[in-house]
Amino acid sequence: MSSPTDSSKGHSTNPAASQEGMSKGLTNYGDRGFSLFLRKAFIKGAGYSDTALERPVVGITNTGSAYNPCHGNAPQLIEAVKRGVMLAGGLPMDFPTISIHESFSSPNSMYLRNLMSMDTEELLRAQPMDAVVLIGGCDKTVPAQLMGAASAGLPAIQLITGSMLTGSHRSERVGACTDCRRYWGKYRAEEIDAQEIAEVNNQLVASVGTCSVMGTASTMACIAEALGMTVPGGASPPAVTADRLRIAERSGALAVEIARKRLTIDKVLTAKAFENAMRVLLAIGGSTNGIVHLTAIAGRMGFEIDLKALDRMGRETPVLLDLKPSGDHYMEDFHHAGGMATLLRELKPLLHLDALTVTGRTLGEEIDAAGPGFAQDVVRSRNNPIYPQGGIAVLQGNLAPGGAIIKQSAANPAMMEHEGRAVVFENLEDLANRIDTPDLDVHPEDVLVLKHIGPKGAAMPEAGYMPIPRKLALAGVKDMVRISDGRMSGTAFGTIVLHVTPEAAIGGPLAYVQNGDRIRLSVAKREISLLVSDAELARRAEANPVREAVAERGYRKLFLASVTQADRGVDFDFLMPAPSAGKIPRVD
Ligand code: FES
Repeated sequence: MSSPTDSSKGHSTNPAASQEGMSKGLTNYGDRGFSLFLRKAFIKGAGYSDTALERPVVGITNTGSAYNPCHGNAPQLIEAVKRGVMLAGGLPMDFPTISIHESFSSPNSMYLRNLMSMDTEELLRAQPMDAVVLIGGCDKTVPAQLMGAASAGLPAIQLITGSMLTGSHRSERVGACTDCRRYWGKYRAEEIDAQEIAEVNNQLVASVGTCSVMGTASTMACIAEALGMTVPGGASPPAVTADRLRIAERSGALAVEIARKRLTIDKVLTAKAFENAMRVLLAIGGSTNGIVHLTAIAGRMGFEIDLKALDRMGRETPVLLDLKPSGDHYMEDFHHAGGMATLLRELKPLLHLDALTVTGRTLGEEIDAAGPGFAQDVVRSRNNPIYPQGGIAVLQGNLAPGGAIIKQSAANPAMMEHEGRAVVFENLEDLANRIDTPDLDVHPEDVLVLKHIGPKGAAMPEAGYMPIPRKLALAGVKDMVRISDGRMSGTAFGTIVLHVTPEAAIGGPLAYVQNGDRIRLSVAKREISLLVSDAELARRAEANPVREAVAERGYRKLFLASVTQADRGVDFDFLMPAPSAGKIPRVD
């Protein structure tokens, strides 16, 4: 006997007729009718009616986790997304995926990004849904979700968890994590004591949500909106605001719409969308990690990032956003200044306005719909930028034949044309053991070199922001030229060359740098050179050949066997489609 809420329509006798909603992706028992019958029997065990089960299904990735305070508002967001889905006539189905937090991932979060992307992709494929709302925020989660969704090919919307609120330390406004590094540097230099650093520790993260500066999380939020993958205004509302919940509700409603229209992700993630995202990455003074992640997401759609063309794009794209670490403000200020609409309006002449967004309208139409803007002091005009060129410059030279990058907008202008003596650390352990020793032979004009923190060397940790050697820090030195094959946090600052490709662990030239070698950095010429002859480098390589690391089992074995270099997004080679859809950006 049917329940009063059951429509009594029962299961379809011809499930092959429908490849939508609950009939999608049936478990294979060799009898599709039975597969649907069984699926509905189980879901009805959770109290669902046939009426509910006939609606378009919207999956919602639940990345809430006790280990991830950046996603601490996930329960409220899920509730709001569900409301939006149901208001629009859909059936919301939330489900868990891997969740990654920067400080709770060992050896580091980058090691797990591709695993999360695979988890996301396979669950989007395996479970019946007509569209998905991807709830992500902390650094690696949004790239992982966009990579996975790009490969799965469903209609998808990215919902950002939102930034944390700023705190206050002795009346000074603070937020993670540019201020974390600044205060830790003061503590190392003995400018503040143990009691004060403990007080700071209580104030840096004033609420749940993602880091409040233009770190990787904020960068990826802005990139997601520039790609057209969020609802308009989806990047900037802080995590604990009503605006954020309304964005969640709208994301749910829109997901039903794009399910009905079959607006699949490939219609949004086009070459033009990626070029818009690159413009935005440069104009926001975004995290250097943004390049790696954007390369990986584009790679899933078959596009290759042309680093030289990206650098040319950077020369004509000024930094407009006055946010730490390149500027002074925090994400909540950006939101009060109008968020991405304000930035995109200013960048309009440099954007592909005909790129489609998840709303079904173009980016240009959405910018126009946001209105004329208002007076504010967070997004500068193109006539009065924070920095005249894009935040990130691409370097090349015999030390990095495959390229390297520097965040010039967060570097020390006085050090961007520099030649110095190499002080070499072979790996992270060597760095930890010697960087603070009083007898370290190091001077302020030297160049610190750290090897073996590339993708295969150490899963590319954010260790490129090497600490200033203690004896120099105590003498007041705040910045030095630092070079590695690793990454750095988007919240860090300094004259730091990153992503040296190929990495030391696969025998890149970085592997053969020795103490005392001369290194030349010229950001103006986009050059990073080891002033050692090719013959000498070949001699060193022959005398001390690099043996690539392998693992016996498990995910680490897969990682070491498959991970690509920074110029291919540190994705797994088998996750990228072949053939290539071409190079981007396509700038002259
Ligand atoms: Fe999650 Fe910074 S640690 S965004």
